[in-house]
Amino acid sequence: MDVEEKLVMNVEEAIKTRRTIGRVKKDPVDRAIIEKLLECAAWAPSHHNTQPWKFIVMTGEGRSRLGEGYARVARAGLPELTGQELEDRLLKERGKAFRAPVVITVVCSPSNDPRAVLAEELAAAQAAVQNLLLAAHASGLGAIWRSGEPMYHPLMKETFELALDEEIVGFIYLGHPDMTAPEPKRVPAAEKTQWLE
Ligand SMILES: Cc1cc2nc3c(=O)[nH]c(=O)nc-3n(C[C@H](O)[C@H](O)[C@H](O)COP(=O)(O)O)c2cc1C
Repeated sequence: MDVEEKLVMNVEEAIKTRRTIGRVKKDPVDRAIIEKLLECAAWAPSHHNTQPWKFIVMTGEGRSRLGEGYARVARAGLPELTGQELEDRLLKERGKAFRAPVVITVVCSPSNDPRAVLAEELAAAQAAVQNLLLAAHASGLGAIWRSGEPMYHPLMKETFELALDEEIVGFIYLGHPDMTAPEPKRVPAAEKTQWLE
C-alpha cells in the first residue's frame, strides 16, 4: 500500500468488518505504515487531553523483549519445573512473541495532571488501541489485541522498564493476514440499549 494514500475505508465499514486476526504472515510490515497506524492511535480522545499512551514497537529480534517477559512470568509461576522441562517451557514462552512480524505493547502512562482519573486514563489508552486496530484493518493488515495474565504480571512491567503507575493495556500483534476470520457474532445494540425519552 502507498502510505501517502489516505485510508479511504468508510468508518462504518471499517468498524463492522474489522475482525480479530490471530494468524498473520511472516512478511515484514513497512515501517511507514506502522508509523501511520500509531498516528491514528494517538488521535484517540482523552479527558483533559492527557494523551496517556505509550507504544513500544517490536519487530525482528526486538520481539525477544516480549518473549523474555513471557518466559520470566512463566518461570515465576512454575518454581517446581527444572532441567529440560523448564528449558522447553521457556523456549515455548519466548516463541509466543514471534507469532507476528510486529508486536506493539500499548502502555497507559497516567498523567500527573491532578484532574486525571485513572479509569479514564486507561479508557483513553484502550481507545488508542481501537483506533490502531481500525487503521490496521483499513490498511489491509490483520491484528489481534492480546492480553492474558502475563500482561498484568509485575515481571512483565519490569521487563518493559515501566514505571510503577504505568500499565500495559494490550499486546497488538500485527501483520499481513493469513486467515479468514470466522463469521462475527454480535448482540444487536437495541438489546443493550435503554432509551429515556
Ligand atoms: C482487552 C482485550 C483483550 C483481548 N485479549 C485477547 C487475548 O488475550 N487472546 C485472544 O485470542 N483475543 C483477545 N482479544 C480479542 C477478542 O477475543 C475479540 O475481540 C472478540 O472475540 C471479538 O472478536 P472480533 O474482534 O473479531 O470482533 C481481546 C480483546 C480485548 C478488547
